[in-house]
Amino acid sequence: MSTARENWGSRFGFIMAAAGSAVGIGNIWRFPYTTGTNGGGAFLLIYLAIVIGFGLSVAIAEMLVGRAAQRNPVGAFRALGGGAWPLVGFGGVLTGFVILSFYIVVAGWTLAYIGFMASGSIDTTDPERLSQVFSGFVADPLRPILYSGVFMALTAWIVVGGIAKGIERWNKILMPALFVILLVLVLRSVTLDGAAEGLAFFLKPDFGAVTAGTFYAAIAQAFFSLSIGMGTLLTYGSYLSKQEHLPKATLTVAMIDTGVAVLAGLMIMPAVFAFGFDPSAGPGLTFVTLPAVFASMPFGAVFGVLFFTLLAIAALTSAVSILEPMVSYVVDEHRFSRRKTVIVASLICFALGVPASLSFGIWSGFTIGGRTWFDLVDFLANNIMLPLGGLFTALFVGWAWKRAAYELSNEGALKLPWTPVWLFVLRFLAPLGILWIMASALFA
Ligand code: PFF
Repeated sequence: MSTARENWGSRFGFIMAAAGSAVGIGNIWRFPYTTGTNGGGAFLLIYLAIVIGFGLSVAIAEMLVGRAAQRNPVGAFRALGGGAWPLVGFGGVLTGFVILSFYIVVAGWTLAYIGFMASGSIDTTDPERLSQVFSGFVADPLRPILYSGVFMALTAWIVVGGIAKGIERWNKILMPALFVILLVLVLRSVTLDGAAEGLAFFLKPDFGAVTAGTFYAAIAQAFFSLSIGMGTLLTYGSYLSKQEHLPKATLTVAMIDTGVAVLAGLMIMPAVFAFGFDPSAGPGLTFVTLPAVFASMPFGAVFGVLFFTLLAIAALTSAVSILEPMVSYVVDEHRFSRRKTVIVASLICFALGVPASLSFGIWSGFTIGGRTWFDLVDFLANNIMLPLGGLFTALFVGWAWKRAAYELSNEGALKLPWTPVWLFVLRFLAPLGILWIMASALFA
């Protein structure tokens, strides 16, 4: 156990880092296409209900465990719970490897697309052709892997710098830049002729399209987006001082995260409709539909470069937060140096990313239960590991950790009447909600 544990330099720095973790590929790539394929506004409403109903409470719980223990995920559950509880922390560390292995692949594509946009090499409005470009690029056995390596190296470089001088410093620069770019792009999109139809699609609920699968997609999206269930919030909380008002800080982060997801929808949907493209294109929405949108508008190359830069920044600040829990685990528990740990962990994640990338090309025929390797790890992490991580965190804080309410009681103003509500959510609503949604989708 390290004695001189580093702390965040300022409240603003912590909020930026936590928001940087939450705001990622999940908000800008995943959220709009998931909304597009799940009934637009109806999905948005269910998503908001899940975030407010229990996402927020579980996020506070996870962060509180870290702050109380001032340790990595495994050490924190061992110190506060003992018994088999450290397994929850181990599960989180493992989930980090799984998520990072496919996250760096998509993040690598965004780096490549910054180049494509800048060079004008895919300046066409023909979705057929763009679809070929995209499938051709991701199927390449070498280039996407190199880009994922570059992205992994950038992530590692920031994490080697430590908490205040690495993670916090870069988030304080990158997150404000992200907000500015996002606002510019939203303004461009909603002022296009014909934007209204896209706005209506995104905001008007169509409950006819809702199934058990919609709820499942919403919960997986909420946990992924808020970075819940794998020890990231726990680890970031462990560098937080006890003076911090934790529910308020978490609420701020959740509002930024949800706000950015909604803004991403407002950025993408109006533009897609204005130029007559299909909103339910799925994962290709970002890499196929949007380049066509950019090619259709004046100064499209500029907006295109801005958009993919936005996505790369969002991805980088999240990837950093996925790497940190495993690093803090090894550094805390095994007393390895931060630098060595980061290098080894990054190499492992990079290696795990290779099959994920190849599953779009030469290994696309290799499937397990109908899923390619990429789809399989993505499904496992988002739909199983994160919800289970969230479930056990809720159970731990709700039932097993007797000091939970006390630990939250420095928070003064929010203590009453919210602490009992929070505990009720953790004890009943979140566990039953997570189990019910998982069971109804998996066994339907
Ligand atoms: N929240 C990030 C996103 O929306 O892209 C992804 C993520 C980061 C998931 C950290 C899990 C995590 F622990």
